[in-house]
Amino acid sequence: MCGIVGYVGNRDVVEVLFKGLTNLEYRGYDSAGMALRDEGEIKIFKTLGKLINLKNELENRKSELIHPVCGIGHIRWATHGSPSLVNAHPHTCNCGRLVVVHNGIIENYKELREELIKKGCKFKSQTDTETIAHLVADEYAKAKNLEIAVRNSVKKLQGAYAICVMHKDVPDVIVGARKHAPMLVGIGENENFIASDTPAIIEYTKKTIYLDDNEIAVVTKDSVKITDIDGNLVNKKVEVLPWEPVALSKLGYKHFMLKEIHEQPDVIRNVLNGKLFDIDSPIILNEVKIDKDILKKLNKIEIIACGTSLHAAIVGKYLIEDFAGISVEVEASSEYIYRKTTTDASTLVIGVSQSGETADTITAIKQAREKKSHVLIITNRPDSNMARLADSLIPVNAGIEVSVAATKSYTAQLMSFYLLALHLAEIKGSLDKEYIKNLKHELIQLPTKIEEILSNTSVIQECARKFSSYKNFIYISRGVNLASAYEGALKLKEISYINATGYPAGELKHGPIAMLDETMPVLSILIPGGITYEKVLSNSEEAKARNAKLIALTSSNDKSLDNLFDIVIRIPSVSEILSPVLTCVPLQLLAYYIAEFLGKDVDQPRNLAKSVTVE
Ligand code: M6R
Repeated sequence: MCGIVGYVGNRDVVEVLFKGLTNLEYRGYDSAGMALRDEGEIKIFKTLGKLINLKNELENRKSELIHPVCGIGHIRWATHGSPSLVNAHPHTCNCGRLVVVHNGIIENYKELREELIKKGCKFKSQTDTETIAHLVADEYAKAKNLEIAVRNSVKKLQGAYAICVMHKDVPDVIVGARKHAPMLVGIGENENFIASDTPAIIEYTKKTIYLDDNEIAVVTKDSVKITDIDGNLVNKKVEVLPWEPVALSKLGYKHFMLKEIHEQPDVIRNVLNGKLFDIDSPIILNEVKIDKDILKKLNKIEIIACGTSLHAAIVGKYLIEDFAGISVEVEASSEYIYRKTTTDASTLVIGVSQSGETADTITAIKQAREKKSHVLIITNRPDSNMARLADSLIPVNAGIEVSVAATKSYTAQLMSFYLLALHLAEIKGSLDKEYIKNLKHELIQLPTKIEEILSNTSVIQECARKFSSYKNFIYISRGVNLASAYEGALKLKEISYINATGYPAGELKHGPIAMLDETMPVLSILIPGGITYEKVLSNSEEAKARNAKLIALTSSNDKSLDNLFDIVIRIPSVSEILSPVLTCVPLQLLAYYIAEFLGKDVDQPRNLAKSVTVE
């Protein structure tokens, strides 16, 4: 979603802000802008669309710039008001002396706007953000102090915000504030940064201070002052970012998505590292901070997540119930928050999120915390807001994921669920020891099997070529791979804009079968050796009888499948319970190649954002 970067120091400000915004680009946006303090003036540059347009605008107007030393930049993902130049950030007050960039949503902006209009403020845009600009200017007129003006203003805001403010009369100072939206300060030598996310600053510094809700940061070239909402100084810990700037490079791949798909074998090795030593030793999961005796007696778990993370959660439910015999409910965070749940202090609530910033999941987690549940967070961002709400935290260590479509973070989440479910089973003694050893042995083999899939993608590419012109798809499976069908269909939808639905294979005959004809490909996920293979095969036959085109994703070597299916995508042999870690890979690749053939913007699909920070 939106992104913010601010800089004050001796480097080329335009370059620092532009680089920062480029590194936030993956979050999704529709317009961009910068405000630069230059020779005592505030100069604003805004454009619609991609950052290249902002670059051209800066180039065309470069004669206007003399020596900027301080600036704030923003990429906007429209919430209030269409994507347009007038709605793009930064926004200004009446006189243009004060500028603001903002992430989040101000819920009471209409009331504030009415009051400010009565005071003579002239609004130019439809955004909630412009309200903040007028409000802070109004407070500044009274307090004559930018920090106090920001503090007095944010006290009046309801909703979520991360804001950066500059004022013409307050040289080389950026004031930032946050509530329910991330914001951090990057510490440098004779320079400082402020941003909504770490990629914006990682090229310049790894030293970071994360602001908490209701904190205000006053940032100059040589100082950072952080206070709470009452103006008391807050002593903050300086943390060191774990990532290298190289994580933001495509390393020769055409898209980040393809690079990230190829990183999966190493990501899995990373997840297992230090937790699964050998098949004879128990899983080490020190991250789970619940007493073993409590874990033994645990009889209810709730998992909440959105999108791809929700699909990992569905696999997680299957594993925990199968391995540890604990009842698990899985729900989309956006629904959980509207339900009178039976969550209580004896419920373990697991929140799953790649970004750790998804607003719906954060709200759901807060709700669970109010009910005194132990909250376990599985996330790729141990530095995120969600991670800060955790009683127990499992960082999935997939490395930064740039492409909007989640791939490696999904496999890392799946692996975390395998470890958690086995850990619970070992504590409860609920699984046969030999069976556990076999599972561990197979888990260790998974990266090599994914490497095998990645080393020959010709059938997947052929399938993509053959089917890229189809307008609708159904993905079917049963059991633990139902989530793989959901996830495969989501991947196709989000990056190729083709309508794809994941469906329980057994449900096909209860409605969707009516849609089947030669224009509807059905992709079946069939893993032999388990309990679902024959049934999914029969459901595929039923689809064939209605003239549907058939694609199989299977580990079976049965040659007769080549007669039934139009295309058979084969993966290495794997037991059904572990197969979601393998089946997701060809489905990611299929979506990728179809989107590629259709010329779509693979890494930044339209209307989507990497972190969805609004409910
Ligand atoms: O960061 P999160 O895992 O909480 O995000 C949840 C969804 O927004 C996310 O998984 C989304 O569905 C992805 N774009 C899927 O590829």
